[in-house]
Amino acid sequence: MIEITKLTKQADNKLILRGIDIKVSKGETVAILGPNGAGKSTLLKIIAGLIKPTSGLVKMKGLDIKKDGFEIKKSIGYLPHASLLYDHYSPLENLVFFGKLYGVEQVEERAVQLVKEVGLSFFLHDPVKNFSRGMVQRIAIARAIIHDPEILLLDEPHTGLDQGAMTILNNVILTMKNKGTTTLMVTHDFKQAAEICDRIIIIKNGKLVDDFQVKDQSIELVTEKYARQLEGVS
Ligand SMILES: Nc1ncnc2c1ncn2[C@@H]1O[C@H](COP(=O)(O)OP(=O)(O)OP(=O)(O)O)[C@@H](O)[C@H]1O
Ligand SMILES: [Mg+2]
Repeated sequence: MIEITKLTKQADNKLILRGIDIKVSKGETVAILGPNGAGKSTLLKIIAGLIKPTSGLVKMKGLDIKKDGFEIKKSIGYLPHASLLYDHYSPLENLVFFGKLYGVEQVEERAVQLVKEVGLSFFLHDPVKNFSRGMVQRIAIARAIIHDPEILLLDEPHTGLDQGAMTILNNVILTMKNKGTTTLMVTHDFKQAAEICDRIIIIKNGKLVDDFQVKDQSIELVTEKYARQLEGVS
């Protein structure tokens, strides 16, 4: 579903990504871990088609992002650090706006349903600017999935969420996985990574240093592998 080959990214004479190779199958849920500044968000932005790689190949659904970027973007739901929401709009107005951009049918019903799913029906018509960090994140999650994307790219999605919202988010990811959605999720939260992902990738200094399956929700395995990589022990 996602095929990344020899990917590099250079900015200001600094090599941010230094030859990344990743293959992700349809329906897989993959966590990307790594220290601050490792290049995780940069990698996700390239896959989302927001920035261009310096060299290398990114293919999704068999299409090259360089040639078929527009076609690919329709299949992607991207949740960045920033919410992308319009502050003075309500959740309903935001979701309808983004839904229309993607050509979602019966967009109002879909928007109302999603606001309900993220537990904010009571605030359907209130401006987002008055929302707390966690409330904004809930609506941002709804925005990322308004068009029912085949590929979900999430950059630290659990940040700012309370326990209830974490459960909602995890259920969203798992429900979409059951429908065949492929998810790449950057996170610093090992527990969430172990709980909802099939596979873990560790990025360090712009390089992929580990890539393994995680079974039985083993947070110990994730913690151990991560520590080993960061200490540079092999
Ligand atoms: N446009 C840019 N120009 C110059 N350097 C950049 C640019 N974007 C990112 N960087 C640098 O690239 C490195 C990787 O940044 P990135 O945001 O991908 O890290 P990250 O792994 O997501 O970190 P975090 O865990 O803190 O979110 C950092 O050193 C950052 O300063
Ligand atoms: Mg980041």
